[in-house]
Amino acid sequence: MAVTRIDSEELEEQRLFMQRVRAVTHVWDHRPLAYTHSYGCQQNVSDSEKLDGMLEQMGFGFTDSPEKADLVLYNTCAVRENAENRVFGNVGALKALKRRNPDMVIAVCGCMVQQEHIAERMKQRFPYVDLIFGTHVTHKFPEMLYSIYEKRKRVMCIPESDGVVAEGLPVRRTSGFKASVPIMYGCNNFCTYCIVPKVRGRERSREPEAVINEVRSLTESGCKEILLLGQNVNSYGSGTDVSFPELLRRLDALDGEFVISFMTSHPKDCSHELIDVIADSRHISHHLHLPVQSGSDRILKLMNRHYDTERYLGLVDYARERIGDIQLTTDIIVGFPGETREDFDKTLDLMRRVKYDSAFTFIYSRREGTKAAEMDDPVSNEEKGSWFRELLDVQGAIGEKAYEKYVGQTLRVLCEGRGRTDEALLTGKSRQNIIVDFPGNDELIGQFVNVRIAKALPWALKGETVS
Ligand code: SAH
Ligand code: SF4
Ligand code: F3S
Repeated sequence: MAVTRIDSEELEEQRLFMQRVRAVTHVWDHRPLAYTHSYGCQQNVSDSEKLDGMLEQMGFGFTDSPEKADLVLYNTCAVRENAENRVFGNVGALKALKRRNPDMVIAVCGCMVQQEHIAERMKQRFPYVDLIFGTHVTHKFPEMLYSIYEKRKRVMCIPESDGVVAEGLPVRRTSGFKASVPIMYGCNNFCTYCIVPKVRGRERSREPEAVINEVRSLTESGCKEILLLGQNVNSYGSGTDVSFPELLRRLDALDGEFVISFMTSHPKDCSHELIDVIADSRHISHHLHLPVQSGSDRILKLMNRHYDTERYLGLVDYARERIGDIQLTTDIIVGFPGETREDFDKTLDLMRRVKYDSAFTFIYSRREGTKAAEMDDPVSNEEKGSWFRELLDVQGAIGEKAYEKYVGQTLRVLCEGRGRTDEALLTGKSRQNIIVDFPGNDELIGQFVNVRIAKALPWALKGETVS
């Protein structure tokens, strides 16, 4: 199997299906409404923006309430068991709605249903789900939807594929000044615990020109924050002459005031060159999310991560040396099969050594079809839970002080809206990707402002605007 680039002819065909769906809903007594929800990572959110873009072109409006919707679409995540359980629960809850409104179309797509055993289970357990489709046929959504309206038959479409790259799909972005831009899809790393390579296919990069043109047109139309997406952005363009650092360099050369950030950076391919490009840039965020997963070299090997703690710490030290105000964050898994107390202590040691600004921590979740699922896993859930709480405490104490160094400094902040916890304040992000809250008028939303920092909280900074 090989990666398929979807050509314009195929997309043209989908445009015809969009018109046909429009013709179906056109005769209704109301405008069709969609309720869409995305679980999981930013990549899924980005795919949902394309699904929403297609829905918009098919004449749909959007609603926040499934009760009012003519179509409910869940874009699912398979990364951990609790993510899947949530979807099963939420799809189960749609039964009553469908009974009240039998014309409602219910669709489930994404990583979770790309696993055949899950898609089968979904199909059996929820006979009222009309459409189930995998991650490689997002661009065929109009055709599938039309087929439901036309034939009133259930559709399930989960082809096995190494993956596709489809340029030119419509995108519905909800913010005028923030946008995510996928630069690559899939993953070739096969970390032994992880389901993503199985459900997202092989690593494939977009053409650099396609990425640069998209970012240029976004910044020219007033976008101020661009998030580049990939499961391992550091292997962008592998085998071509435009590596990830080079792509960043070219994007950094674009004019205007905007910030470019990226997710996620795999330590095995993170280079000094990348850190140098960030250090010397005008637009690139001073934030490096560098998932370490474990502080034990033995466990890192079992995880198939292809780096050891020495290499990892070397990167951290270099990043701190070159970019004094870099914000460092990470992902950690507790309770990988065979992890001992000794291994776990090494993770705690690494946390204390690196002093992350924040960490996303997860208890290992067994994923069918991965290598780790076959490994012995003798540690009890209770013990893993107690390690997990210990880890949170250690990181909590570190995070408490992480932002204190900013007090008294003036930071350039992109104002994003009203505060989540305090409506009286505006909230935004600094170049280090730290949340900054400050008083001000709504006209500042979507603008860069200078904020003098008066107070540091473990998760945010507070201050006043200065000119
Ligand atoms: N591509 C990214 C991560 C994507 S998944 C990377 O390699 O950094 C986000 C995080 O979920 C991972 O970093 C890992 O910490 C966690 N994760 C993935 N699979 C998991 C599993 N089976 N159990 C628990 N956590 C998992
Ligand atoms: Fe999963 Fe590893 Fe790929 Fe990240 S790099 S998506 S953790 S296999
Ligand atoms: Fe989940 Fe798929 Fe992302 S498994 S984390 S939504 S790539």
